[in-house]
Amino acid sequence: VTHTPGHPELTVAEQAALTSGSDFWHSTPIDSAGLPAITLTDGPHGVRLQADRDDMLTGRPATCFPPAVATGSTWDPELLRRMGEALGDECRAMDVAVLLGPGINLKRSPLGGRDFEYFSEDPVLTGILAAEWVRGLQSRNVGASLKHFAVNSQETDRMRVSADVDERTLRELYLRAFQRVVTQAQPWTVMCAYNRLNGVYASQNRWLLTDVLRGEWAFEGLVVSDWGAVADRVAAVAAGLDLTMPGPADAGDQALVDAVAGGQLDPALLQTSADRVRALVDQAATREPGSYDEEAHHELAREIAGRAIVLLKNDGGLLPLATDDGSASVAVIGEFARTPRYQGGGSSLITPTRLDDALTEIIASTQATVNFAPGYLTGDTAAEEGVTQADVAAEDQDLLAEAVAIAGASDVALVFVGSMGETEGSDRDGIDLPAAHLELIEQVAAANPRTVVVLSNGGVLATRAWEAGVPAILEGWLLGQAGGSAIADVLFGRVNPSGRLAETIPLKLSDHPSYLDFPGENGHVRYGEGIHVGYRGFDAREQEVAYPFGFGLSYTTFEYGQASAAATIDGIEVRIPVTNAGDRDGREVVQVYLSLPGSAVSRAPRELKAFANVAIAVGQTADVVLSIDRADLAYWETRLGRWVVEGGEYHCAVGASSRDLRSTAVVKVPGDDARIPLTAGSTVAEWLADPRGARLLAEAFAAGSPDGEPSPIAGMLANPSLMEFIGSFPLGRMAAFGGGLTPDALQRLLVAAND
Ligand code: BGC
Repeated sequence: VTHTPGHPELTVAEQAALTSGSDFWHSTPIDSAGLPAITLTDGPHGVRLQADRDDMLTGRPATCFPPAVATGSTWDPELLRRMGEALGDECRAMDVAVLLGPGINLKRSPLGGRDFEYFSEDPVLTGILAAEWVRGLQSRNVGASLKHFAVNSQETDRMRVSADVDERTLRELYLRAFQRVVTQAQPWTVMCAYNRLNGVYASQNRWLLTDVLRGEWAFEGLVVSDWGAVADRVAAVAAGLDLTMPGPADAGDQALVDAVAGGQLDPALLQTSADRVRALVDQAATREPGSYDEEAHHELAREIAGRAIVLLKNDGGLLPLATDDGSASVAVIGEFARTPRYQGGGSSLITPTRLDDALTEIIASTQATVNFAPGYLTGDTAAEEGVTQADVAAEDQDLLAEAVAIAGASDVALVFVGSMGETEGSDRDGIDLPAAHLELIEQVAAANPRTVVVLSNGGVLATRAWEAGVPAILEGWLLGQAGGSAIADVLFGRVNPSGRLAETIPLKLSDHPSYLDFPGENGHVRYGEGIHVGYRGFDAREQEVAYPFGFGLSYTTFEYGQASAAATIDGIEVRIPVTNAGDRDGREVVQVYLSLPGSAVSRAPRELKAFANVAIAVGQTADVVLSIDRADLAYWETRLGRWVVEGGEYHCAVGASSRDLRSTAVVKVPGDDARIPLTAGSTVAEWLADPRGARLLAEAFAAGSPDGEPSPIAGMLANPSLMEFIGSFPLGRMAAFGGGLTPDALQRLLVAAND
């Protein structure tokens, strides 16, 4: 965003007004300077433009695209770009300057209440998808708001909790996707999170908002607060927060004016923030109004939803279902088939332009007789039918009996079950299906062995208790307004499933790496699993999972040839031939995981570094080329406070999931120059591990002690078993052992070692 010069200077009071909203969704107009108000609105999977002045949660109708839990599972940047473009067109049609998304916090725990709004437990997958979404949106001259910066991976106590994270974990996991999107796609705005980071509110965190975001990543846009995230306006502006939302913030504006007058706030900081808001308003003014084709956007929502569905199980090729057998019968069971769960609650809730349900679409897709039974009550259906809480269980039993009867009388049973609701503002309390749904699956499968389970859920659900009893499972997430038709597309084979898990499905909650430290207490949550987030932690502990990260089946099969890898100036290039060996065209998501055996630092056993989503026709072979940026090889070296690529032989394992690796290529990569300075506090072992340090020590002690006696330290250094014992001594402490290591001699060593 560049500021167009030519506006008259603003007074301090005008600057203060400009840097806060005028109401819930608008910036403050400054008439004297010719600055109109602009509209910022949610986001992220649709445009939620407030419809009614008094109802801040209900928006005007707009396309409800699949939420990020689904788009993350497409593993397809190109689709995300098209979705961003379509959202941009809707924003232009509704005069929206900034759409509040994408949400790119890592899914740290499956209990995270907003996991449905986030892409993945992996920062590379998240960053690549989000960057394309931003590019697509901004290609329409509509701004993105990358949120929530940063480490907002839970809802519990979200307005106050301090996410306590060590710096390496922060850099490599929780900030990494933000870094990628900022540096590669330059979002117009970044939204700061509600929570504190290592004790300091994100909205007041100068290190985060200024040193890292602008200093290191060269962010040129504007930082907007999450709605209500600012606790202290003066501290926020001093930290680098430009626009406080929502407004009006009269008291806060006055506090800024007073702080400037009283010398507590550098006026240049306020001026800079006001300039950034002005630049955003100027940029927005260049946006042409637009219109969009509702039907075409619905079709796009359907395409994305179809690509997001993950086929978890398909024993005996039960799916896809035949469409042309008029004598067959299909039992469709579960209220969610008729009343879809297609998005989560909170600020991302979209009023859809229309809504497909799976039941109608299934009926339209097949010649077979379709019988429906709701199977269970939802909160809404119970209310509609006037069933009191006390009677729900009895009513569910009747619905169960009816469902089992039609399942037993049909050729195939499709059971729609899932979670009852995820919402912004609260975390989930478990990952199991509701009891009524578990019982429904069990009894329907007993009545009909040809049972397909279709899941609707925003956060992962445990499958262990019931999956052995059913031959086929579709993970249908929350799929947006066209989810119903997308499910039918996959069930009947019009779409060959290619969705892949963007998060691990654990066997049980307590296996999860975050389990012991989520959601914290007394205002703090400790990110105790460190860099071992999600699959990294399951792999490090060699734990069995229900379905691994990256997993997903297809109606066809893919065979992998031999991978090869070459180091390039930019990083690593991996190649592998992949053949569609089945009898249907399909898409494969080819994934590359890296490891560095013998690394000098602790690492996850393997980390996703690149992927390609390729369409391969029956019998064809695709030569898949995957590039890994050198920057993505780096780890955060805490001793130097910077990124370092460690030299060595990297193993590039290529496959169909994080636990289905088909071929590995080894490539030697030169390391960065990253010598750790030697100090008096460096241990003897560290001195000896450093070539120059080892030579200097050897020389120093070969000279013997000042009185000409052989140095006892030299003797120690030469004795391997003694070294195991003494290697952990800081060199400075060796002075206590005499042997020539006088303070002067130590000083000379330090100079020579680091010269
Ligand atoms: C949410 C943001 C959202 C904002 C505006 C906040 O409560 O955390 O994601 O963009 O409200 O609705």
